[in-house]
Amino acid sequence: MSEKGDGLLLRRLEDDGLYTSRIKEHSLRKIELHNAYVSLFSRAMKKKWPQRAYLGLYSGPGRGRLADTGEIVTTTALAAVQVSDPFTKYIFVDNDPRCIEALEARIQALDPDCDVSCIEEDVSEAVPEIMKVMPSYSKDRRLLSFCFADPFSAQLDFDVFRTLGSKYRMDFLVLLMLGRDVRTNFRRYFQDENDNRIARLIDDENWRAEWIAREHRRSNLIRFMLEKFNEAMTRIGYQRQRPDDAHPIRLLEKKNVLLYYLVLYSRNDLGRKFWNVARSGIDDQLSLL
Ligand SMILES: C[S@@+](CC[C@H](N)C(=O)[O-])C[C@H]1O[C@@H](n2cnc3c(N)ncnc32)[C@H](O)[C@@H]1O
Repeated sequence: MSEKGDGLLLRRLEDDGLYTSRIKEHSLRKIELHNAYVSLFSRAMKKKWPQRAYLGLYSGPGRGRLADTGEIVTTTALAAVQVSDPFTKYIFVDNDPRCIEALEARIQALDPDCDVSCIEEDVSEAVPEIMKVMPSYSKDRRLLSFCFADPFSAQLDFDVFRTLGSKYRMDFLVLLMLGRDVRTNFRRYFQDENDNRIARLIDDENWRAEWIAREHRRSNLIRFMLEKFNEAMTRIGYQRQRPDDAHPIRLLEKKNVLLYYLVLYSRNDLGRKFWNVARSGIDDQLSLL
């Protein structure tokens, strides 16, 4: 492999002529936190697990161009490929053919031997295809997986986590678009009984009744959503997260405007340990920016 990132955010890259998505400054914090976690995870698990799979849902093309400055940076998918202790298998899913084509070309250029499958499909339809390309495992060829789900909105189907989480030993880092989408559009999602976006995200068709019964006010909506997602993950066997474990990403210019939360779910205590180390690390780095 020609370039190593290992937890770092690679910046000021030359334009490689391939499709590059437009990203905002605040995405850098998401990428840094993802990279820090993946670097810790991949380093620590290399000796313990003969097979390690990385699954990037809503992967993007691997590079982004900052909207304000035009600077080109490596985004999460390529950062995961560039860790010092690579995963033994990579799977990426995105429904935009430009992203898939560019990501495949970039990975090929970095590491022609990388075992990677890029799936051009809607994430909620892609689980059968993901399961086809996931490595098979046995007692002697044990498999540990990590999945990063990074959607643009709260349209995220909990069944994806349920199906993958019950078949595989898989940790999940999930972006919950609670500020920009859920809070902004809540009135519509609540009033339109045919809208199932929130029900699918928190795996509860009867959420409206609970919301009314709890007499939640607008200011408690985010807590309600985090609790409901936490309950859903706990039901499928993941460790309950403390409210403080959810990592908020806010607008840089207006620190009080919530965009989304990043939440980490594991079945093992090490998951939370790595998450806390990753968070404290990027907080230190960010204070230097
Ligand atoms: C927030 S961006 C991903 C950013 C990327 N993970 C990164 O690190 O920069 C969301 C991506 O999801 C893709 N996308 C949107 N809706 C999708 C869907 N329903 N299924 C699969 N991909 C989708 C978009 O093409 C876009 O590349």
